Amino acid sequence: MLRTSHVPVRALTTAKWSRCISTQTHAEPSRGPSMSMMGMMGSKKEREEGDISSVFASLAGEAAKPLPARFGELKQKIVGDEANQRSLVESWSRLTSRLREVAEEVDRKKQDCIPQITYDDLVSSPTSAVIDSIKTSGSLIVKNVIPRETAERWLEDVKQYIQGNPEVKGFPKDDKQVFELYWSKTQLLARSHPRSFSVQKSLLRLFSSEGSDNDVSLNVPLSYADRLRIRHPGDSQFALGPHSDGGSVERWEDETYRNVYKEILRGKWERFDPWRIGDRVKANQNIYDGPGSCGVFRAFQGWTSLSSTGPNEGTLRVYPFIKELSAYVLLRPLFREKQSRSSLTNDQYLSPSNWELDLNLTSTAFPGSPLARCQEYNDVTHPHLELGRSMVSMPRVEPGDQAWWHCDTIHAVEPTHKGLGPSAVLYIPTVPLTLQNIQYIKDQRENFTSGRPAPDFPGGVGESGFVGRGLEGDVVGKEGRQAMGLEPFDLGGSLSEGERELRRQANEILGF
Ligand SMILES: [Fe+2]
Repeated sequence: MLRTSHVPVRALTTAKWSRCISTQTHAEPSRGPSMSMMGMMGSKKEREEGDISSVFASLAGEAAKPLPARFGELKQKIVGDEANQRSLVESWSRLTSRLREVAEEVDRKKQDCIPQITYDDLVSSPTSAVIDSIKTSGSLIVKNVIPRETAERWLEDVKQYIQGNPEVKGFPKDDKQVFELYWSKTQLLARSHPRSFSVQKSLLRLFSSEGSDNDVSLNVPLSYADRLRIRHPGDSQFALGPHSDGGSVERWEDETYRNVYKEILRGKWERFDPWRIGDRVKANQNIYDGPGSCGVFRAFQGWTSLSSTGPNEGTLRVYPFIKELSAYVLLRPLFREKQSRSSLTNDQYLSPSNWELDLNLTSTAFPGSPLARCQEYNDVTHPHLELGRSMVSMPRVEPGDQAWWHCDTIHAVEPTHKGLGPSAVLYIPTVPLTLQNIQYIKDQRENFTSGRPAPDFPGGVGESGFVGRGLEGDVVGKEGRQAMGLEPFDLGGSLSEGERELRRQANEILGF
C-alpha cells in the first residue's frame, strides 16, 4: 500500500489518531484561514519518522499469530443460524466453482482482462460494454490522460528535485526508488491537473451512492498526497505479494464495514454490488491504527505513469474480477478444510466436498488477516484464488497513462523489474468528498503548509527545508485548490440539498 498505493510505506507507529470527527478538540477558525493560521491548527498526532517500512506480516517474517478469542465469537455471529449456514454452504459451492472459471479465463486472456480506454472515451460517453468490462474487472488503464511530453518533463523535474535535495528519504536506503516526497511541484501539478480530475469524476460515477447520498459527493474528488516511485531496471527489492488495502480484520469486525458485504455474508454473493458505496463512507478501516492504514475512504487507488512500462518491467499486478474476489475474501474465514492438501490432488483439495463451515467457537482463524497489518493472500491462506495464474500484470503504459484499481482489489508488485528503463509513477488516488475525508484534507493541509509528510505517512520534518518545494501558489486552478482545502466548495447552482449540506459542512470543517 504504498498506499501508495500499493505498497506499504508507513513506519511502525504507536501514535493514535482518532478518525472520528467529533473528537477533534481544537477550535475551528470562524473564517477562511490564512496559510499561517493553517500551520498552527494541528489536530492529529504525527506518525513516527521513517521511510518505507514493511507493514506486511510476511515481509516482516512474522508467523501468523492467533487472534484473540473474541474473533471466534465474531465468526459464529457471522455464520448465523441454520438457515444462514445452509445459504453459506450453497454459496461457497457456487463461488468456488466460479473461481475455477475465473482462473482459467485470466490464464487464457492475461492482459486482455484489464480494460483499456482512452481519456476521451472515458470522460465523454463510454459504452455500456466498456462500463460493464470495468465493473467486472475492477481495474483499468486510461490512456492519454496527461500529454506525453508533459509527463516526460515531470519525470525530469522530479529527478531534479531529488538531486537538489540529497537528504531525501527513500526505499531502499542504499538505492532509493520509492521516495518520501509529497510536496514537489510536480506532484502538486499532477494532482491538480484538470484532465486527471475529469478521469476521477468519471470513475466516481461508476459507483452508486444510493443510501448514502447525503454522506458522499461523487462530483468532488479530493487531493490525497501520496509518494512517487522511480524503480530501476533490475530491482527486486521493491516487491510486494498479493494484498488489499483498506484494513484487514476490520472488514468483519467493524459492523459498519461488514454491512458493506452483507449479501455475501448471507450466502447471496451474486447479489453483492462492489460499486455501491453505501456504508463504505463511514466504515472504520483502521481499528488498530495499523501502519498500512489509510485515513480516507478511497474509491480507487491509482497511479500516473511517467515512463513506458509493460509486463515484467516492475509494474502492478491485480486479480481482475472484483465481485468474485470480494465474495471469496469475505467467505474464506467462515470455512475450513477437512483434509490437508498433502493427501489430495489439487481438484480434490479445492472441491466443495473438502470444505465445511468452521463452527468451532474456539477457532479464531481469519487467514491472512492479522491485527494492525495489511490483508495478505497466498496459496495456503486463499487456495481457491489460484493466485499463481490469476494475478495479471498491467498492460503496457506510456507516459501520461493512468492505472486504476477498485478499493477492494487484490494487488501486488512484480518481484523483479526486468526492463531497461525507469518504471516511474506518481501515486494519485480517487478520493470523493465525505466528512471523514475532508477532515483528513484539513490535517493534510497543515502538513502541506509546513512541508511535513502527509498525515497517513511517516512523520518528521520531511521536505520542510527542501530547495524548490511546492507551495500554496503552485496549486493551480479552482478545482485543484478546493481539493486541497485551500478554497471553499461552491454552494450555488443545481446541487441536491444533500450535496449542498455536505459541502457546507465541509467548508465549516475547513474553517471557511
Ligand atoms: Fe496496496
